Amino acid sequence: MKASQNRSGPFPLRVLRVDASARVEGSVTRQLADRLIAGLAARAGEVAVTRRDVAQGLPFVDADWVAANLADPDARDAAQRQALAGSDALVDEVRRADVWVIATPIYNFGVPASLKAWIDQIARARLTFRYTAQGPEGLLAGKKVYVLVATGGTEVGSAIDFATPWLRFVLGFLGVKDVEVIAADRGMARGAAACDAAAADIDALLERDWPQRVAA
Ligand SMILES: Cc1cc2nc3c(=O)[nH]c(=O)nc-3n(C[C@H](O)[C@H](O)[C@H](O)COP(=O)(O)O)c2cc1C
Repeated sequence: MKASQNRSGPFPLRVLRVDASARVEGSVTRQLADRLIAGLAARAGEVAVTRRDVAQGLPFVDADWVAANLADPDARDAAQRQALAGSDALVDEVRRADVWVIATPIYNFGVPASLKAWIDQIARARLTFRYTAQGPEGLLAGKKVYVLVATGGTEVGSAIDFATPWLRFVLGFLGVKDVEVIAADRGMARGAAACDAAAADIDALLERDWPQRVAA
C-alpha cells in the first residue's frame, strides 16, 4: 500500500492487522481497521501490512504444546519443535511489526475465543515475556497497538466490559504499554452513529500522532 507522502524514510511502517470478527460482510471492526490502516498509510508513508485473520481459527494450546514450551529450547526434539512451530511463526509476526491493529468485537462480554487463542499462542515465556527476580517482564516494548472494538449493547469501559481491560492487561504483561482503544460500542441503540463516531475518533487520533518504524 503506497501513499502520496513518505515521511518515515526508506522503510515502510510494518503493520500487523489482527481481525477477530466472525463476519466479513458488514463487520464494523473490519471497516474500522481498513480506515485506520489507510490513514496510517496516508500519514506515515508506505506501510507493509501482514494480515492475521484469527477468526479463520487457530489451534488451542494442548498438552504437547505445554510440555514443549516448558522444555529447554536447546533440548527440544523434533516433535516438540513441531508442536511449537505455529506459535513460533505467530511470535515472529508480532515481533516484526511496529504497529498492531487488533480489530475485535465483544462476544459474550469478552474477546472472541479466536483472539484469546491468538494471545495464548503469542504469550511465550523466554520469547515475549520472561520471569525475573523482580517478577515477569514483557519483551515486546516499543510496539504501538490500536484496539478497534465493536459491541451491540455493552458499553466499552463499563463494568461489564471484560474485553478491553483484559486486553490492556495482557498486552502490558507482554511489554506493550502504548495501547489506544477506539470503540464503536452499543451499535444496537446507536446504529450507524456508533461506527461514524469511531471513524471520527480514528481520524482525530491520527491527526494528533502516528507511529514511526521502531526497529530495523
Ligand atoms: C456470538 C456473539 C456474541 C455477542 N456478544 C455480545 C456481548 O456480549 N455484548 C455486546 O455488546 N455485543 C455482543 N455481540 C454483538 C457484537 O459485538 C456486535 O455485533 C459487533 O458489531 C460485532 O463486530 P463486527 O461488526 O466487527 O462483526 C455479540 C455478537 C455475537 C455474534
